[in-house]
Amino acid sequence: MGLARRVAIIGIGMTKFGALGDVTTRELFTEAAYKAMLDAGVTHKDIDGVFVGNLSSDVFEHQMHLAPLLPDYLALDNIPATRTEAACASGGLALRSAIMSVASGMYDVVLAGGVEKMTNLPTSQVTEALAMCSDDIYEANLGVTFPGVFAMMARRHMYEYGTTPEMMAAVAVKAHDNAMLNPYAQFHKKITIDKALESPMVADPLHLYDCSPITDGAAALIVTTVEKAKEFEGQPIEVIASAQTSDTMALHDRPEFTGFRSTRIAADKAFKMARIERKDVDVVEVHDCFTIAEIMALEDIGFFKKGEAGPAILEGRTRRNGDLPVNPSGGLKAKGHPIGATGISQVFSIVEQLRGVAGPLQVADAEIGMTQNLGGSGGTQVLHILKKL
Ligand code: COA
Repeated sequence: MGLARRVAIIGIGMTKFGALGDVTTRELFTEAAYKAMLDAGVTHKDIDGVFVGNLSSDVFEHQMHLAPLLPDYLALDNIPATRTEAACASGGLALRSAIMSVASGMYDVVLAGGVEKMTNLPTSQVTEALAMCSDDIYEANLGVTFPGVFAMMARRHMYEYGTTPEMMAAVAVKAHDNAMLNPYAQFHKKITIDKALESPMVADPLHLYDCSPITDGAAALIVTTVEKAKEFEGQPIEVIASAQTSDTMALHDRPEFTGFRSTRIAADKAFKMARIERKDVDVVEVHDCFTIAEIMALEDIGFFKKGEAGPAILEGRTRRNGDLPVNPSGGLKAKGHPIGATGISQVFSIVEQLRGVAGPLQVADAEIGMTQNLGGSGGTQVLHILKKL
């Protein structure tokens, strides 16, 4: 398993994340895509195909058939365009599809983006739409929404490994501290562990500050080969691994409840493909849709043993100057989580880190970075590893 042609990202673009008001999906995507094209120095005629991650423009904006609409608005005429939907991993899957199309030789230059305009609907309707990403018969239909799913996993993790609400709150405090320095982030609001623990309960034991928010936003990347990157302006960052796994939809079909088998399998595949070890990773963006998800991700990827990520986070070891900087962007928790855009924006942040242009968010001497993008409650998993050339 490997890439037939070496692949690089040469352009990155993002909109601000947040509750953006009266703006459409097509406008958000166009802004991110043009920024990425400008950054890469590619023009319309260079682009061979478009992949766009989007969960549900149909429910959120009454707009289906998004794939041709977005390049149409970008004036990319008659181009092959594909929408990928894999719940919260829709963006990661768009990038992986772009990578496969370039590595195979099918395309030379591809636009991979993600977009979601969620705040058109009230929270109750957004929650219902998101719940469609779980097993409808056994979970959503019985009233289990995503905060509920992750709350159950948090409870079990607390029971088996002694994880505490303070450890989860420490994930949120770090996320908000990092997001304070990220101009794209939804929240610029410093919090404390006490404030997180005192915030309203959403699904016991998860408080408001344990949850990622409802967000509008878009992000885009330009993908090409390492060889062809020399023809363009954008500083290339190589993709040295792309891994994807599925798992059972229903949680009751899984052997355990304190992590995701799909993360572990995808991580093993990714490290094998990249031919590196866990200790070689300098910076990572993980899918912290809830604070417990960051703890489980760090354990499942293999950075920490089971039960050891929470204490490590509490000790500050995952801060920007710690031994494993995690989510220096502010993560889903505080940068925001516009579902389809999230996987792409994680890679945007890692590319900035590896280029050394992350400003106040910069992790010193970052050469290898990783992203983990989780779909639903782990039914899909997409991981990427990137390296400075
Ligand atoms: N973290 C921190 N603050 C948040 C927040 C979050 N996740 N969500 C909302 N807020 C803030 C708002 O900015 C607002 O602050 P203000 O009063 O100072 O303006 C306040 O809380 C109320 O916001 P509101 O939008 O009314 O909150 P809500 O109760 O409708 O929604 C949640 C809060 C947690 C229920 C909602 O954000 C949610 O459902 N999150 C999870 C999304 C999800 O499941 N994603 C998929 C993951 S797999």
